[in-house]
Amino acid sequence: MMKHSITLTVNGDRYTLAVFPWRTLNEVLREDLNLTGTKRGCGTGDCGACTVMVDGRTVSSCLTLAVDVDGKEILTVEGLAPDGERLHPIQEAFIEKGAIQCGFCTPGMEMSALYLLSNHPRPGEREIRHGLSGNLCRCTGYNKIVEAVAEASRRMEKNNGAPGGGRKP
Ligand code: FES
Ligand code: FES
Repeated sequence: MMKHSITLTVNGDRYTLAVFPWRTLNEVLREDLNLTGTKRGCGTGDCGACTVMVDGRTVSSCLTLAVDVDGKEILTVEGLAPDGERLHPIQEAFIEKGAIQCGFCTPGMEMSALYLLSNHPRPGEREIRHGLSGNLCRCTGYNKIVEAVAEASRRMEKNNGAPGGGRKP
């Protein structure tokens, strides 16, 4: 079968790639672009470890074919701290609250948290738990993760009330 030429904008950088039609966005991010922050857990849409944003909405990259996101904007966890030095308030809050154990679920949790906080800047505990309900933590550190998202909400509000303190993303 023929490869297809696709163009993706990932964390602000544009890539043109030739991919087989059966390859997932998760595979292309991890294997072709070496963006291994996005994890692959179940591979069947159940764990949320592979969560990324496509045109501002969270998707399971393990269930998304790369050819189906041709021309779209992708944001991965690497895009939260693009200069590699200053962390996003969500990342700072996860560290401060001890919300990371093995860290495998963390990238997906943070992308779901970003989507939640972008749409509900001041979520209550129930909203946070609902917003993260598609993400599983095998270390079961859910309470600290919820605390971290609440803290991230406070930090982002303090920084002009905008996600990322008014900077992209
Ligand atoms: S790896 Fe995609 S949902 Fe689990
Ligand atoms: S911190 Fe280990 S899976 Fe969540």
